Amino acid sequence: MSIIVTPTQALLSKLLIRKWTEMAAAAISCRNRFIVALSGGKSPIPFYRALSKLTKGSLWTKTHVFLVDERYVSLDHPESNFRMLKKNLIDPLNIPTRNIHPIPTGAADIRKVAWQYERDIKSFFRLHNNEPPVFDLILLGLGQDGHIASLFPGTRALEEKRKWVATVTEDHVKPPRITLTLPVLTRARTIIIYAPGKQKADILKQALEDQNKKSLPVHHIKAGRAQLYFWVDQGAANLL
Ligand code: 6PG
Repeated sequence: MSIIVTPTQALLSKLLIRKWTEMAAAAISCRNRFIVALSGGKSPIPFYRALSKLTKGSLWTKTHVFLVDERYVSLDHPESNFRMLKKNLIDPLNIPTRNIHPIPTGAADIRKVAWQYERDIKSFFRLHNNEPPVFDLILLGLGQDGHIASLFPGTRALEEKRKWVATVTEDHVKPPRITLTLPVLTRARTIIIYAPGKQKADILKQALEDQNKKSLPVHHIKAGRAQLYFWVDQGAANLL
């Protein structure tokens, strides 16, 4: 596990763009495509905006964008992660529609949404057995309660060992959510937890210091084959 700390959020974003470019180039040269799953939340928006200026056509035609999680709302709803990504990254870059893989929240039953997204992933990766897919990059945020993706403390989705996509319908999560699960998150080639800002200082300290206790969802993200990074600015790193 590595921690990257920069003096400012602007610099963090700039370095992450460089890292993104390197990872994309390596994945495209090995497997001819770069497959990412991106998170919602507010923290990564400046990064997505800055990344949207990286207009290298060949990179984006070979980049596939999945969603780490989504609220169970329509894809044009103000709370939709897809809507935020579309506005800040997908539309400005004109990424081909076939490369974008939203969580299909249109179904009348949230369980069907999860099932359909798992099926979409399976068919994209052409998986014929139950081995979870390997994403090149999974970008996560860090919630104040230690959640990652939509794996909140006290939810069944956090315990999921088999399904790749789970629903989160407990009363304390509103609106309900659909999320990739730990079996998928932990298999990615690279996992980046992007958590800048002084409001993250306390939870970042707990995330890094109490790892053996497994008291927070973020403690469960120990990478399998992956490289696991925390990308933070000095504000977030203040208590370390
Ligand atoms: C979401 C997320 C979630 C997020 C954290 C941090 O859709 O909200 O995927 O896991 O990354 O809640 O959110 P902030 O970046 O807004 O602090």
